Amino acid sequence: MRYITFALAKGRLAKKAMGLLEQIGITCEEMKDENSRKLIFVNEELKLKFFLAKASDVPTYVEYGAADIGVVGKDTILEEGRKLYEVMDLGIGKCRMCVAGPAEAKEYLLHHERIRVASKYPNIAKDYFYNKKHQTVEIIKLNGSVELAPIVGLSEVIVDIVETGTTLKENGLEVLEEICPLSARVVVNQVSMKMENERISRIIQELRKVI
Ligand code: PRP
Repeated sequence: MRYITFALAKGRLAKKAMGLLEQIGITCEEMKDENSRKLIFVNEELKLKFFLAKASDVPTYVEYGAADIGVVGKDTILEEGRKLYEVMDLGIGKCRMCVAGPAEAKEYLLHHERIRVASKYPNIAKDYFYNKKHQTVEIIKLNGSVELAPIVGLSEVIVDIVETGTTLKENGLEVLEEICPLSARVVVNQVSMKMENERISRIIQELRKVI
């Protein structure tokens, strides 16, 4: 029997995702050691492998079949646009993708002005403004602390994840428009889905029972 490999997005989601896998009897003790620098973990009895990767790389590993199954946020799935099957919503890590900015920026949106939009998610931002709103904007790609952009005058608005809204509030910003709801999803490699259908379907079925 060959190994089924899981790629988990490291960070906030990983712990919760591992908790769900544990509930269906898929455990990997080694992985809980937070001090370890080890990248890949094996469960020999179940013939499973797990690795933690940067969230934005998870869809890449899954598309190429280096991982059969991935657990990653819908934000990353939308941004990366990889060829894979999204098979399940885990209902964890719930948040929203939003256009945010200072209250004054509402006007710019209303009048379809050619504003600057800063985001870690340039593809999502582009799709939203060009294809949904038919508004021409300038997208500026950032890598973190995106809320800074409108404060220091880099952009008029941002496209970013809002969970509790605390970051926006503490920086004098607010949600201006909601793009879509987000949560953690299970994704599967398209070939693995056919070749290992029985094992993968069983894992998904079990997961459905606990969420
Ligand atoms: C995310 C997101 C917001 C914040 C939203 O950032 O980009 O900044 O969380 O959460 P809140 O609505 O509960 O305040 P993250 O902490 O992942 O780091 P980053 O800013 O460096 O990207």
